[in-house]
Amino acid sequence: MKIAVLPGDGIGTEIVAEAVKVLDVLELKFEMESALVGGAAYEAHGHPLPEATLKLAKESDAVLFGAVGDWKYDKLDRPLRPEQAILGLRKNLGLFANFRPAICYEQLVDASSLKPELIAGLDILIIRELTGDIYFGQPRGRRTAVDGHFPGAEEAFDTMRYSRPEVERIARVAFEAARKRSKRVTSVDKANVLETFQFWKDIVTEVGKEYPDVELDHMYVDNAAMQLVKAPKKFDVVVTGNMFGDILSDEAAMLTGSIGMLPSASLNSSNQGLYEPSHGSAPDIAGKGVANPLATILSAAMMLRFSLNQPEAADRIESAVKDVLASGLRTGDIWSEGTKRVGTREMGDAVVAAITKKTITG
Ligand code: IPM
Ligand code: MG
Repeated sequence: MKIAVLPGDGIGTEIVAEAVKVLDVLELKFEMESALVGGAAYEAHGHPLPEATLKLAKESDAVLFGAVGDWKYDKLDRPLRPEQAILGLRKNLGLFANFRPAICYEQLVDASSLKPELIAGLDILIIRELTGDIYFGQPRGRRTAVDGHFPGAEEAFDTMRYSRPEVERIARVAFEAARKRSKRVTSVDKANVLETFQFWKDIVTEVGKEYPDVELDHMYVDNAAMQLVKAPKKFDVVVTGNMFGDILSDEAAMLTGSIGMLPSASLNSSNQGLYEPSHGSAPDIAGKGVANPLATILSAAMMLRFSLNQPEAADRIESAVKDVLASGLRTGDIWSEGTKRVGTREMGDAVVAAITKKTITG
């Protein structure tokens, strides 16, 4: 088994170092190899996703990814921007199924901006289609308009599109996931306006017939955005397209108090996966040693469970994280009165210590 370790930019290097420390202490048998990605790779090799990095990712069983991006690259041509690295990895590895759990840890109910009773016990799984939709649809570009409201004017356009097999496979992922949970799927669309999402809704409904034990409902994306803050616990598995999933998963993340706690997994059809925190590179706090490494550490746990077939090791990491939270340690993003503020490294050390302690005491 081989893991490609791609820390990236900003806080990426700091948080991935902590996750690697946690993986090391588990003494599992796999090889880890690091490579540059994002702005760091652009600086060194002139491209955010160099051939060598892509090759390493392709030949690995899993990719542990930090974060990419920095404001200073915003002026580069689009193909050279750090974000293209993550989009390129998703596309080249065929990582179409993105799992973004939003779990509210008991100890962190007060870190949310919503009332504790609304989010205590929250456990939602957002399944976002990741290689289609307006993110990848062609054609796209700039041109002179020949019609529309202002013929002759400069215009820009993207294309929203989904094919039947793309919708079918992500729907199956959602129904299968729901079978392991509370057997409920909400498919989020905009079928009242968009052809693409009427098609999406029709196909999800069809696939749903193969899963009579799973309850399926449909919701328009604007209503879903509203219901997520009104009654988030009504959701269980949410399945949606690439763009709506991007937006709703940030919203769901924030319900739990901090995006610094949320891991994610992006899988292809052979269970090869890319694992990354749901948050970004946070250049404003990079290098300060204050970032929360728990989302990345929990992403490593998802990696062990989904791609490396080590569910016990995954459990050990997750239970160590709960122990550390219970002991009152908090990074700045989840700090509240009465808890102890620690930095990135201390948080990683505490997780390592919790794992070792459990090993010793059995
Ligand atoms: C995410 C991010 C990415 C996305 C960006 C960095 C390209 O926001 O993973 O949610 O839009 O998918
Ligand atoms: Mg996003």
